[in-house]
Amino acid sequence: MGKTIKELLASETPIEQVSVAGWVRTRRDGKTCSFIEINDGSCVASLQIVVEQSCSGYEMLKKILTGSSIRVEGALVPSPAPKQKWELHAKQIRLIGPADSTYPLQKKGHSLEFLRTIAHLRPRSNLFGVVFRFRSKIALAVHEFFQKRQFIYVHTPIITTNDCEGAGRMFRVTTLSGNIDLAPEKDFFGKPAYLTVSGQLEAEALACALGKVYTFGPTFRAENSNTSRHAAEFWMIEPEAAFYDLESDMTLAEEFIRSIAQFCLENCKEELEYFAQRVDPQVYQRLTVVATKPVTRIPYNEAIGILQKSGRNFEFPPTYGENLQAEHEKYLTEVYFKGPVTVFNFPRAIKPFYMRLNDDNETVAAMDVLVPEVGEIIGGSQREERLETLLENMKYHGLKERDYWWYVDLRRYGTVPHAGFGVGFERLLMFLSGIQNIRDVIPFPRTPGNAEF
Ligand code: 4AD
Ligand code: MG
Repeated sequence: MGKTIKELLASETPIEQVSVAGWVRTRRDGKTCSFIEINDGSCVASLQIVVEQSCSGYEMLKKILTGSSIRVEGALVPSPAPKQKWELHAKQIRLIGPADSTYPLQKKGHSLEFLRTIAHLRPRSNLFGVVFRFRSKIALAVHEFFQKRQFIYVHTPIITTNDCEGAGRMFRVTTLSGNIDLAPEKDFFGKPAYLTVSGQLEAEALACALGKVYTFGPTFRAENSNTSRHAAEFWMIEPEAAFYDLESDMTLAEEFIRSIAQFCLENCKEELEYFAQRVDPQVYQRLTVVATKPVTRIPYNEAIGILQKSGRNFEFPPTYGENLQAEHEKYLTEVYFKGPVTVFNFPRAIKPFYMRLNDDNETVAAMDVLVPEVGEIIGGSQREERLETLLENMKYHGLKERDYWWYVDLRRYGTVPHAGFGVGFERLLMFLSGIQNIRDVIPFPRTPGNAEF
């Protein structure tokens, strides 16, 4: 067992006898002693080990190459080197698992593209160590945010027979082979089943009983868009609250972004320092803006107006009735408003069946939170709680009532106004860290053509 390097480096006093284990970053041999840097994944810093000839196990030293795992017993003493407070004077050193010179992760910097091809080893690099520790902390911050507000954590199914977003981007789950559509009733679940694109519909059922709930789990989309912000498997956080309307939904979403940015500034100092140095020099400034400034809110039609008057030569000309493109989101957040923007009241035709129809009969009570660098980070809405209007809207979107009978039931028995949203966890991490590609905030990313590891 022993202590982590993070614990050792935080020590106030020298320690006579400690045991530490990790992976070798480098070894330098001097005239009378050798220096080994090891890292155990507990923090960015490595620990310098000083090995003299009197150390037990010294004869193994030549076999201790970059990438090997070792355990060292010794004394933690003040280091004469200016960059580190402590170093370890080894009394005993043991090679646990050797690595030879084919170890792909050498000290020299590697490109992010190359590191993706060794996703099983890249967590041992400084950058990915920081990213995955950061991911863990932000997951905790997400739970804290909702639990403090009395939202109840619920687990919605991963395998589902409902298409929540209705865009036909689901992965089929089947035990059939050959033509799986010939006899779907013979399939495992007696009908076609899929990996869920969102836990929302089930979260609504739970919210209409428990009041305020949230999900935080994996979701899947078979969209063939090979962009830097789309993954086929990603994690989504989906709060859903009874008696919320669009206004309270937007307020919760904006508070969420603000509060997570504040959490980072207060609790992720080591990670932010690393991101500022190596990834994005603007990271503090961006988080400070989000943590302190209110988010701008504009209706969709005004957003289209701003884009049309911008004088920009967009690849997709902004048009009322069409979705905002990445380039439009960039313009609004990075050029026009220079900060996060909530766009609301979208045309009914471009949004899913469950969103609440506004009195104009043309728009729905939808909202997207857009942020600089990433674009859409949150999508949500007030849900249609009126039975007749929901049925009418399902027809409008070409959905069959019998496929959604239980969802419709919620409007039949004690319906209430309610609202919620979904946050893409990886997009949140990209925004907070400045990392540009979604593949670099997921340990083993799944994208079109890529499911290695
Ligand atoms: O806007 P979306 O599609 O909304 C829903 O799924 C709703 N059912 C959520 C709800 O109201 N409960 O997705 C929500 C968020 C997006 O804003 C984006 O951040 C993220 O999920 N997202 C993706 N992240 C990574 N890769 C993808 N392919 C993503 N698709 C959506
Ligand atoms: Mg969306």
